[in-house]
Amino acid sequence: MSAEPESLQAVVEGVFSGIDRVRAAFTPRLAPHEVGTISRVVTGVAIVSGLPGAGFEELLEFPGGVFGIAFNVDEDEIGVVLLGDYSLLCAGDEVLRTGRVMDVAVGDGLLGRVIDPLGRALDDSGPVAADGRLPVERPAAAIMDRAAVTVPLQTGLTVIDALIPIGRGQRELILGDRRTGKTAIAIDTIVNQRGRNVVCVYCAIAQRASAVAKVVAGLREKGAMDYTVVVVAEGDDAPGLCYVAPYAATSIAEHFMERGRDVVIVYDDLTHHARAYRELSLLLRRPPGREAFPGDIFYIHSRMLERATHLGKERGGGSLTALPIIETEAQDISAYIPTNLISITDGQIYLSPSLFELGVLPAVDVGKSVSRVGGGAQRAPYRAVAGDLKLAYAQFEELETFARFGARLDEGTRKVIDHGRRIRACLKQPEMSPVSEAAQITVLLALTAGLFDAVPLDRMAEAGGAVHGAAARIPAEICARFDTADKLDDADRKAVIDIARGALAPFQPKPEAKPAPAPKPDAKTKGNP
Ligand SMILES: Nc1ncnc2c1ncn2[C@@H]1O[C@H](COP(=O)(O)OP(=O)(O)OP(=O)(O)O)[C@@H](O)[C@H]1O
Ligand SMILES: [Mg+2]
Repeated sequence: MSAEPESLQAVVEGVFSGIDRVRAAFTPRLAPHEVGTISRVVTGVAIVSGLPGAGFEELLEFPGGVFGIAFNVDEDEIGVVLLGDYSLLCAGDEVLRTGRVMDVAVGDGLLGRVIDPLGRALDDSGPVAADGRLPVERPAAAIMDRAAVTVPLQTGLTVIDALIPIGRGQRELILGDRRTGKTAIAIDTIVNQRGRNVVCVYCAIAQRASAVAKVVAGLREKGAMDYTVVVVAEGDDAPGLCYVAPYAATSIAEHFMERGRDVVIVYDDLTHHARAYRELSLLLRRPPGREAFPGDIFYIHSRMLERATHLGKERGGGSLTALPIIETEAQDISAYIPTNLISITDGQIYLSPSLFELGVLPAVDVGKSVSRVGGGAQRAPYRAVAGDLKLAYAQFEELETFARFGARLDEGTRKVIDHGRRIRACLKQPEMSPVSEAAQITVLLALTAGLFDAVPLDRMAEAGGAVHGAAARIPAEICARFDTADKLDDADRKAVIDIARGALAPFQPKPEAKPAPAPKPDAKTKGNP
């Protein structure tokens, strides 16, 4: 009976002595907090006063967990770009300094995830597991840390891999009018990286949520999400989020590159990005220039794309290949933003709406497309055929216009046109069905050897499929030499062509059908006079 009050007393004493110990150890610290107030809020931008210590690009915190970036830092007012839902912010609300710049979560935990530029999950797989955080704006690698582009980035699209090759570390612009298959090319490239140890980052800027959902579903279906991070700023998000999204995506990609990985980043698309920046600049009353864009519009894209590179061995040898997308209006590739981007990047893939309407998909206009770097990284078998193929295709495109008028053509011209039509048929490819290197090389060698010339045009798709299938029979040691050899040797070339010839045998016209129609016109012309 007497033990109980004693133990109670011991408990009470223990608690109080604990409180005393904590109180003795605690020394209150005085920490100054700079608190400003909102003077005005307009679409996506807030004007804040009372924060004289805030620095350029510093992150500021608003009520309701909304953040903003200090953009215009004046003596007594700051123009802040808001990065979230600003509908509840009012004049007079408090604003806090954070003392840091904007950063984003990076790490392997992001693979397979769909996130917003602030690193918050947009899918339903719970919070994002990050290895650390990196500022969204970072300096690009120094010149001496960079290496030449030497390894090809296979897109799985024959027309690109053969004629406009992309190297790892290159910046290749994809541009074209609305709905010409720009996104499709980028997504096909991501799908083709499966099993190639390449990490992909897809950054959707100001797109419809349904369009992004379709892309993510497509990637998931093809198993491409395992090595892909999707960063999304939707069309109805604050313009500040759209502006910051590609920088955040680049930092996520750089994290992998700095660990020696090869990374591909797609910016879909930078036209929307430029428009978001123009909107912010006009709201911040920066002086407008050409097409109402602010003067630094070139710089915001160049400092982002300069971060794409191939790092030297001492820096881990990783690479970051950038595929920015630009939408043109009425095929005007010499408009302001397209020419800016063309001059920043190492080449462009131009998609033509007229080819798209003709059903030539992917609608790549080979004449207006170029890769200024990737040719050096292209594999030997492609290099062996690329020159001939480009020339034959360019000649065909020139002559095709005449053929449309029903002009009578001489034998040589007809041959060039027939050959060109077969090249075009072989370069057609449906979406999301990348072709392996061996299959591409077999088709290209067969094309340049003229094996397709006798195949009727309406059977070309079938014949192409047969050659793709036959490519599996190429001996493994020849396939290995495709990757390593400096030049394709004659024996290998002959072996591949023989395989293609075998596959195309059923598509050649029957020998007895050939001589029959030939004498007829002769007989007629002779008989007529
Ligand atoms: N190689 C292809 N084969 C068949 N269909 C294709 C191919 N490439 C694109 N398409 C189709 O063309 C349409 C437009 O493609 P996509 O959305 O990639 O174009 P876009 O230029 O990105 O359009 P937007 O301007 O809306 O962004 C889609 O319906 C797509 O399925
Ligand atoms: Mg698109």
